[in-house]
Amino acid sequence: MVVDRRRFLLASSSAALCMPGSVSLASAPRKRLEPRPGKAVLLEHGGPEATIWGFDGRVPGPTLRVRRGDELAVRLVNGIEHDTSIHWHGIRIDNAMDGVAPLTQAPVEPGKTFDYRFRALDAGTFWYHPHTHHSYEQVARGLYGVLIVEEDDPPDIDHDLLFVADDWRLTEEGQIDEASFGNWHDASHAGRLGNVLTINGEPYGRYAVASGDRVRLRCLSTATARVMSFAVETIQPSAIAIDGQPIKSRLVPDRTFTLAPGQRIDIVLDFDIAAGSTVRVFEVSNTPFVAAEFMVGEGNRDRVESRAEIRLADNPLPEKPERADRTVDLVMEGGAMRFLTSAEFQGDELDGQTLARSHGQFWALNGVAGMPDDPLFRAAGGEVMGTRIVNRTAFPHAMHVHGHHFVELARSDGPADRDWRDTVLLAPDTEVTIAFPADNPGKWMFHCHMLEHQASGMMTWFEVTA
Ligand code: C2O
Ligand code: CU
Repeated sequence: MVVDRRRFLLASSSAALCMPGSVSLASAPRKRLEPRPGKAVLLEHGGPEATIWGFDGRVPGPTLRVRRGDELAVRLVNGIEHDTSIHWHGIRIDNAMDGVAPLTQAPVEPGKTFDYRFRALDAGTFWYHPHTHHSYEQVARGLYGVLIVEEDDPPDIDHDLLFVADDWRLTEEGQIDEASFGNWHDASHAGRLGNVLTINGEPYGRYAVASGDRVRLRCLSTATARVMSFAVETIQPSAIAIDGQPIKSRLVPDRTFTLAPGQRIDIVLDFDIAAGSTVRVFEVSNTPFVAAEFMVGEGNRDRVESRAEIRLADNPLPEKPERADRTVDLVMEGGAMRFLTSAEFQGDELDGQTLARSHGQFWALNGVAGMPDDPLFRAAGGEVMGTRIVNRTAFPHAMHVHGHHFVELARSDGPADRDWRDTVLLAPDTEVTIAFPADNPGKWMFHCHMLEHQASGMMTWFEVTA
């Protein structure tokens, strides 16, 4: 049943309907990051070069690496013909540095700069990407990179590797399908699904390891729409962190993990396997195909005997809440098959046709399409805020909270997930109640990380006061 094929079936509308270079900053010198056009081979190894937009012209952009507690100073120099910004996804950060234009800063115009400076409180795997009205296009053109915050006491591993999965929509010539940006059909369905997967900006991932090696694989999805699942053959992975936050090491069920847009998982792979073998990773959300392979060379078998389970130290987060002090509802409506009859948009109540035809809005949160004037809630420092997210649409959504991590208190389709997360996936017709201590002052976004959904209605914000 497994085929060696790396292209996704180009999603027809019916398929869509049934789809449920390291830089060290140890002493905080200022790093410059320039979004600009660049080239990357995406379609197949040895194939055509596509014109992408990337930080410093590369995809993924430079991997930033700091020690926990260190300060990061980055000057954004805008080299594209769009307003842009940098959001530090999953980082608990000063609100002014969160990079959301226009909520937390003015958009950075072409040729202009913005200085980001913040202290990395939590060790883990994070990422950065633009956050503007056009982030759905900028991220899909390749503007993203990984931010690694190293543990005080880094675990004993042989290789610390990235597995950055992206879902590109390319033309037959292997170029970015530009004509499909802003497509209303995509926006009102599952989002702009791609047809080609890349790992670390390459047509598929190729890794060389040695027999007996222990690998930490930092997995991230930068896709703007597709929910992907990856299955590792032969080797049983253990998960050690989710969305950047450490967990007690546990086996990955069925050797398969799912990543919704924006989500991360850090896994450990012990290559307790003979030299000369190959371990493949398949993408299995649709017809399975090879996403990456590890070539196992000669190694030091002694290491296999001496390995202990990895337990990353917890980050300085508050206690995991067992209950909320206050709970608000966040009802998601709209999209294909269940179109909005009406919703508020920029202060006016509009019918569904007008929302769609005149404003490209297809989704509403609590009856409002796009950014509401009033926040979802206002909370004072430390109040444990619950949000009951109700997905009344026919599509999955990946809801992302800025400036905080949350846990689930309840979910309608299974046991609550008690790991800290910053992005939660909701299947159609399900609801999830999340909670977190609202302890980081500022105005924070709360939106669907399927970025076409965000742009076509699915966003809100909340405010925390000290
Ligand atoms: Cu990864 Cu609001 O963003
Ligand atoms: Cu969505």
